[in-house]
Amino acid sequence: MFQSALDKMLFLTHSTMLNSLLKTKIAGTPTPFYYYDLDFLQETLQSALKISTKYGYFLHYAFKANADDRVLFIIKEAGIGADCVSGNEVLKALKTGFLPEEIFYAGVGKTDKEIILGLEGKIAFFNCESLQEITVINEIAGKMGLKAKIALRINPNVESHTHSYITTGIQENKFGIQMWELEKVFSIASELKNINLDGLHFHIGSQITDLEVFANLSHKVNEINDWFINSGFKASILNLGGGLGVDYNNPDVFPIPDFENYFRMINSHLKPHPGQDIHFELGRSLVAQMGSLVTRVLYTKMGKSKNFVVTDAGMTELIRPALYSSFHKIENLSRSQPGVASENEDIRKYDVVGPVCETSDFFAKGIDLPLTERGDILAIRSAGAYAQSMSLDYNLRDKAEVIYSDDLA
Ligand SMILES: Cc1ncc(COP(=O)(O)O)c(C=O)c1O
Repeated sequence: MFQSALDKMLFLTHSTMLNSLLKTKIAGTPTPFYYYDLDFLQETLQSALKISTKYGYFLHYAFKANADDRVLFIIKEAGIGADCVSGNEVLKALKTGFLPEEIFYAGVGKTDKEIILGLEGKIAFFNCESLQEITVINEIAGKMGLKAKIALRINPNVESHTHSYITTGIQENKFGIQMWELEKVFSIASELKNINLDGLHFHIGSQITDLEVFANLSHKVNEINDWFINSGFKASILNLGGGLGVDYNNPDVFPIPDFENYFRMINSHLKPHPGQDIHFELGRSLVAQMGSLVTRVLYTKMGKSKNFVVTDAGMTELIRPALYSSFHKIENLSRSQPGVASENEDIRKYDVVGPVCETSDFFAKGIDLPLTERGDILAIRSAGAYAQSMSLDYNLRDKAEVIYSDDLA
């Protein structure tokens, strides 16, 4: 269901706009490229902000989802903070103009150099994932004559019902401080001179579509938070991470993620203590649906049991199918209006594969497409998150350009 008539209108605009632009203005543009609909990005951000503000929540954006310059600038201008997982992301956040006090820095393997950089940049929080990391930050901060503000990233052992490769909050994951370590970590960290322990951080996975998971997370956060309060520590912030999923199957039907029910679910289960601020660090849900990876068909191979469409984009531009067997909707823009099958279309089954020398280099297997030919343009949808940011130069491939909707206005 569309959340509003506006959502529907916006998405139809996105989909049909891409189609008509391709047929007219960018038909001769070299492929592959990422197409980012910046108006749609704005709408998504405004939707997330409107609903989260209603509950007094604070939003950060997880750079790892997409760290494109223009995308970051728009997100910063919208008043959203930064969530970084490397020193270079912290540097980019500062360079883009995010305020240091809005920058969080997580990551299971921060190097000394990255810690120094975060301290020099006066970032708001280091989200710390082990006692050893905390003692290293304490030591480095001491040498620099500084005090580091930290949040404990806790692994709450909550199942997120998503792909095992993007589950981060169960015991066997490498992330966070385990529940049974909390007492020891707390008693040592709170004595360290150059550490200011002030937050609790959780992030249990990505592409979570079952909202009950966030109720479960909230209950666990309540338990942990109460335990800390009883132990004499009131965190000034509770950070519940990111994780809200998007609808890869129906990007036209559910264009803007269900922020309404997501925040409502958390609000009705989370019981913060007075004075505790609630933060989120959303990635995918803010940027996935604004993007498409646009690619040209190089060759078609009609086999006995399989038909292949070989495109000029590959896993180097969108690795999610190879990494997690992820589904992305694919449209042949040269053949039909997106989402509108014409009655006499000749529909065939295809594996859509890239040119990279790996069997895992595919975008989809056994999908229906109208009869597809060399030179056709395909849009691989929902490619605004974890596509460009995960791109590789494997096989010494060129970097794909980005075309923004307003480049074509
Ligand atoms: C620490 C942290 N925060 C936030 C995110 C963003 O998650 P998502 O893109 O699912 O919202 C991630 C992604 O894995 C993460 O590792």
